Amino acid sequence: MLNFYIKTYGCQMNERDSEALACLLEARGYREVETETEADILIFNTCSVRDQAERKAIGKIGMMKMLKDEKPSLVIGVIGCMAQRLGSQILAELPQVDFVAGTDQLQNVPNLIAEAVTRHGRSAALEMGPGVFRELDGHRPGQLIAEVSVMRGCDQFCTYCVVPYCRGREKSRPIEAIVDEAERLAAGGTKELLLLGQNITAYGVAEARKAGTYTPEFSAFADLLVALNEVKGIERIRFTSPHVRFMNDKFVEAVTQLPKVCKCFHVPVQSGNDRILKLMHRNYTAKEYLDRIDAIRAKAPETLFSTDIIVGFCSETRQEFEDTHEVMRRVGYDMAYIFRYSQRSGTKAAETLTDDVPEAEKHERNQILLQELNESVARHNAQMIGQTVPVLIEGPSPRNPKRWCGRSDRNKMVLFDATPGLKVGDLRNFRIERSTENALYGTLDKS
Ligand code: SAH
Ligand code: SF4
Ligand code: F3S
Repeated sequence: MLNFYIKTYGCQMNERDSEALACLLEARGYREVETETEADILIFNTCSVRDQAERKAIGKIGMMKMLKDEKPSLVIGVIGCMAQRLGSQILAELPQVDFVAGTDQLQNVPNLIAEAVTRHGRSAALEMGPGVFRELDGHRPGQLIAEVSVMRGCDQFCTYCVVPYCRGREKSRPIEAIVDEAERLAAGGTKELLLLGQNITAYGVAEARKAGTYTPEFSAFADLLVALNEVKGIERIRFTSPHVRFMNDKFVEAVTQLPKVCKCFHVPVQSGNDRILKLMHRNYTAKEYLDRIDAIRAKAPETLFSTDIIVGFCSETRQEFEDTHEVMRRVGYDMAYIFRYSQRSGTKAAETLTDDVPEAEKHERNQILLQELNESVARHNAQMIGQTVPVLIEGPSPRNPKRWCGRSDRNKMVLFDATPGLKVGDLRNFRIERSTENALYGTLDKS
């Protein structure tokens, strides 16, 4: 029996693909192991979103040459977004790599492995598009929180972003297939779903446009949430990432009214300045963005928001950056990923704009926003003291096993003393006694 190990870089979509692939490989008789050194087959699931992400993976795969020199039968495969983008180049430059497989080729990985094992041939499977990709819906058993991919690809083409090139055109799964997957997960003990899509509010949009049924009031994503809210055993539903362009009133109604949808939303803003948003091809203004946040808060005032921001995009002035800072102050995010713009070849920004904000300035802007974020998170956490919140119990805290942890419905990590009678997967109320920047400390509410 051959052992495999998958190293995953990048976003949750890659994590989910790795999980589905692991299940497929196990079904074909391979066995998953915990370390690279035990593996006969090493798979790198890669990310291309920023230059640093690619360099990290290339550096790591480069180091695998030593392992392969020691064990020539070792099979090394590179899959995911960087494989899609640079597949043939990877094969040409890294002789230790046996195969590369693109993002629509997951189902072919067992064949590529078999070929590498038996014939020692080197191959590339990079074809994309309708008809090529088959959804894999395997999950590791017994997960309290499970990721479910509801759509793939992205048609948004933000000018800085490689995702549409790496993951292809948007394609959504039928509602029935997703509900069916959720029911199977619930039967296996899953309590929380994390729905995934790069442009998740465009769920079903490409299909509706093709059928001529798309209108501004359309939100198949809202319909999906309504259907998933009915699944017995599922207690919580989260999703990532929505795009403001498709956050219409039907969406707002669904996410604020459905009881299982957690009232904390990741809504990437990228910039708070209209000229920059236009250059980025985001299709909304800062005012339209804030209007959607306000629309959600009007119906669900306790909602927390998180976001993605890019600082130092081509030609961004200090004053324009200050507009982003202002949006952060206005929304008061509870979490944010703040990135320095990284030029990606092949994107429209790389071809038509100049990456002219100096690195030191990008760094400084990043620091200013991080400071703003820390202050707003500390404010949110301090406000939580004295409140009682529902927590889905995850078990011993990875940092300090004497303590247990779980997340509140608004995605806050809550730590508490291990208490007899509490079980992993229980949903219980905790009273928050104190807080730090990273966590809340609570005691079980016995009432
Ligand atoms: N689909 C999601 C996010 C996809 S990528 C969305 O549209 O919101 C995750 C984040 O990486 C993006 O939100 C963006 O903030 C960042 N990102 C993407 N391309 C980048 C680039 N070239 N340089 C810096 N950050 C980038
Ligand atoms: Fe990239 Fe924009 Fe698509 Fe997000 S919406 S994946 S940032 S192109
Ligand atoms: Fe990276 Fe691909 Fe995700 S480029 S961020 S792994 S979709």
